[in-house]
Amino acid sequence: GAPDRVTIYEVGARDGLQNEKSVVPVEVKAEFVRRMLAAGLETVEITSFVSPRWVPQLADAAELVSSLGELALGTHRPVLVPNEKGLDRALDLGVSSVAIFGSATETFAARNLNSTVLDQFTMFEPVAKRAKDDGLWLRAYVSMCFGDPWEGDVPVDQVADVCRRMTDLGADQLSLGDTIGVATPGHVGRLLEALDARGIATDRIAVHFHDTYGQALANSLEAIRLGVRTIDASAGGLGGCPYAKSATGNLATEDLVWALHGMGVETGVDLGALVATSVWMSEQLGRPSPSRVVKALSGE
Ligand code: HMG
Ligand code: MG
Repeated sequence: GAPDRVTIYEVGARDGLQNEKSVVPVEVKAEFVRRMLAAGLETVEITSFVSPRWVPQLADAAELVSSLGELALGTHRPVLVPNEKGLDRALDLGVSSVAIFGSATETFAARNLNSTVLDQFTMFEPVAKRAKDDGLWLRAYVSMCFGDPWEGDVPVDQVADVCRRMTDLGADQLSLGDTIGVATPGHVGRLLEALDARGIATDRIAVHFHDTYGQALANSLEAIRLGVRTIDASAGGLGGCPYAKSATGNLATEDLVWALHGMGVETGVDLGALVATSVWMSEQLGRPSPSRVVKALSGE
């Protein structure tokens, strides 16, 4: 049967806004985060401390965290940090929850991190060690877990090996990224099996589906059926990735919440308040949300 509760890991402020063509003003970002928290989302990824030359959309990371004050801090407010420079910037502001992000494929390691699959671990190692020594909560993302726009199919064993190495860095949680949204439910099962065979327990795993092929909800429900209890989603279905062609938005949080509440699974989210937030955000961005549930409930 369905679990009593599932944790939603909200990525709209980071994965969503990093992909906007225009830079969203920092006050709008702060208001977006405040509204999402007020709608009951507990875990909200705030931003990324990455090179501003690589992701100008999030160059205001420090300003955003400062302007949110206590609201942006604590175990449930992670930020992305690729290297020690990013970690230093985050620690200076009192952040206590960070995420490193690796790639299962060579092409994306090069395009997203200017690195290789092997060298990325050298970059993450000191970040992870310091994070653990300082008592921070640490998430490890792995991208291109289900397919890569340049390399095509990515073998499950190749993905599982990268996941094992990322987890060995001391991560509290591993997030399986379907960066370009090509996964299907059977593929989800095969990857979880390969991870189980490498000793990675399902309760440490989160799933991160983009909705390019409309499979993100089906994939998430399959992961829940197989024991996963943390699902990444973005309010209104915002998102994509600036360094991966054919990546569209994440699974919309509203679509996930509608399904889970219908199954009797608690999320803590006030769906009406979240829809109102996404409608407000879509007005700021000047285009409608792609979420079917947002459209249906807002009468757009
Ligand atoms: P690089 O160019 O090789 O790095 O990039 P570098 O060490 O040579 O530094 C270049 C410049 O950036 C230098 O500045 C550094 O100081 C600066 P300059 O001297 O030229 O003025 N710099 C930084 N500044 C601020 N904060 C930092 C930082 N690091 C360097 N942390 C690097 C290597 C990793 C830095 C770069 O490739 C990078 O920032 N990549 C991040 C790309 C990114 O954020 N992608 C999106 C997130 S991943 C994603 O969306 C997938 C996910 O959603 C899951 C999924 O869907 O699969 C998580
Ligand atoms: Mg993503």
